[in-house]
Amino acid sequence: GVIREYDFTISRSVIAPDGYERPVLLVNGAFPGPLIEANWGDKIIVNVHNNITGPEDGTGIHWHGLLQIGTPWEDGSPGVSQCPIAPSRTLTYEFIADLFGTSWYHSHYSGQYSGGLAGPMVIHGPTQSKYDIDIGPVMLSDWHHKDYFELVEEMLAPGGSPRVFSDNNLINGKMNFDCSTVEPNDATPCTNNAGISKFKLQRGKTHRLRLINSGSDGEQRFSIDGHVLTVIANDFTPIEPYNTNVVTLGVGQRTDVLVTADGPNSDGAFWMRSNLTVCTAAKQPFAVAAVYYDDADTNELPRSTPWDAPDPGTCANDDLAITKPLFPMAVPEPTFTQTMAIELFTNASNITLWKFNGVSMRANFNHPILPQANEGNFTFEEEWNVLNFRGNSSVRLVVVNKTPGPHPMHLHGHNVYVLHEGPGDWDGLKIIRPDNPMRRDVQIVRGNGHLVLQFDANPGVWGFHCHIAWHSAGGFFSSFIVQQDEVVRMRIPQTVWDTCREWDAWTARNA
Ligand code: C2O
Repeated sequence: GVIREYDFTISRSVIAPDGYERPVLLVNGAFPGPLIEANWGDKIIVNVHNNITGPEDGTGIHWHGLLQIGTPWEDGSPGVSQCPIAPSRTLTYEFIADLFGTSWYHSHYSGQYSGGLAGPMVIHGPTQSKYDIDIGPVMLSDWHHKDYFELVEEMLAPGGSPRVFSDNNLINGKMNFDCSTVEPNDATPCTNNAGISKFKLQRGKTHRLRLINSGSDGEQRFSIDGHVLTVIANDFTPIEPYNTNVVTLGVGQRTDVLVTADGPNSDGAFWMRSNLTVCTAAKQPFAVAAVYYDDADTNELPRSTPWDAPDPGTCANDDLAITKPLFPMAVPEPTFTQTMAIELFTNASNITLWKFNGVSMRANFNHPILPQANEGNFTFEEEWNVLNFRGNSSVRLVVVNKTPGPHPMHLHGHNVYVLHEGPGDWDGLKIIRPDNPMRRDVQIVRGNGHLVLQFDANPGVWGFHCHIAWHSAGGFFSSFIVQQDEVVRMRIPQTVWDTCREWDAWTARNA
C-alpha cells in the first residue's frame, strides 16, 4: 500500500451553513471537513493539531468503522483509547485502511462533532457493481443552531430533557432556513435562502452516491424523486444489490446506492430529499438538494414530486432479510453472551440520564481504559462502565431497549454480525441467515425492541455506545476489553503516553 498523509488543524470558527450564524469547530476551516481518500490496504497518517482557543478545549478524532487491528490506540476515542489532545498540541494518527467503502471521521470528545467536527472518508476497493461515475460523499446531517456545549449543559441540568431538538437538516452542509421562525429576542445574524447543494448527473449514466448520516441525533430517510436506488453497500459491507425508493440511515451509518439518470421529467431536474424520521426530535426535519442532468437548466428549481412512501414509523433499518452480504461469512457459536439493557432514569438531582447495562457512564479523560489495561491495571471505577470479555473469541450481545426511542448502536474496532432485530424481546433462537448474517458497524435497535449482535474478538479496548451524540454524552456508553492478555502485551507508542502527559499538565493548570 501507499501512504496517504493529511494535516488537520482543529479550530473555532463562526459559520452559517443554513444562513443562521453559529460557533463551530472545524478541520482546516472546512465544513464538512476535508475528504480522506485511500485505497484498501493503504496507510493513512493524520497529524491532528489542536488549535482550539477561546475557550481552549481538548479533542480527539475517531476513524469510524475501521478495525485498527493491532493498533487500538489509534482509534481516537478520548477516555477509552487515549487522553484528549491538549490545546496547542499535536497527535499523529497512523493506521491501515483495513476495510473498504464509505465512512467518515469525527471528533469523539463530548458532543464536539455536532459542532461541525466531521468529514467523509472513502476507501476504494474491489467492486462487483457496474457504474459510470462516482459522485462521492453525500453527507446527511441534522443541524443545531446552538453550540454542543450549551446543548449538553441544558440536557444535563436538573429538569433537563434527554430529547435535544435539531433546528435544521443539511445535505453536504447546505440547506435553506426560514429566519422568521427564530425566537423574537434572538439577535443572531440570519439570512434566508442560504442555498442548497446541487448534484450533476449525466443522462443515461449510472452514478454511485455514498450516503453518510453524519448527524448528531436524527435518523434519515433518503430518496430522489423519480429514481430507484440500488443499494450496494451498508457501512463497510458490500451487499447483494436490491432496489428501493427510500433508504433509512441511523446516525453513523452509511449506504452506497447506484442511481441511473433516466428519471421521468424531461427537464432533467429532480429533488433529492432526506427527511428525519418521526422518531427524531427535529424542528425542521426536511432536507433537499437539487439533482440536475447535464442538459438541465440549473437556474430553475426542480418541479418533481416525491415518492409516495410515508414514514412507516418503525424507525428501524431496512429488513435484515434483504440486506445480504456479498461475501458470505458464517457466524460461529458464541463463547459468551452478554445482555445489555438500555434504560432512562432521573437521579436524585432531577437530572435525566441513560443507563447502559445498569450504569450511567462518566468518562475519566485523564485515565483512559486502554493504557491502563496495557499496564496491567484491570480495576476500574464502576462509573467508567467497563466490561472485560477476557479471552473470549466470539461474544454475542443481546441489546434490550427499555426506552421508547430507537438507538443507532455502534461498536468500535469490529465489523459486527447483526443476527436479529425487532420489537419486544428476542426469542433467544431466531437468527437471520446464520450462514451469512448482515455485518456492519452501526445498527438501529428500535424503541422497546431488541437487537442481537455478535463480534469476533479483535484485541483492544473498544467503545460500544449509542451514536446519538446527546445520548452518549448522557451516559449511554460502555467500553469493552477484548483479549486482555494480548492488550497487556501491546506496545503502545510513546506519542500516546505523551498525549496523556500533556493533557494531565493542561488539566492541572486549568483546575
Ligand atoms: Cu462514529 Cu464511537 O463513533
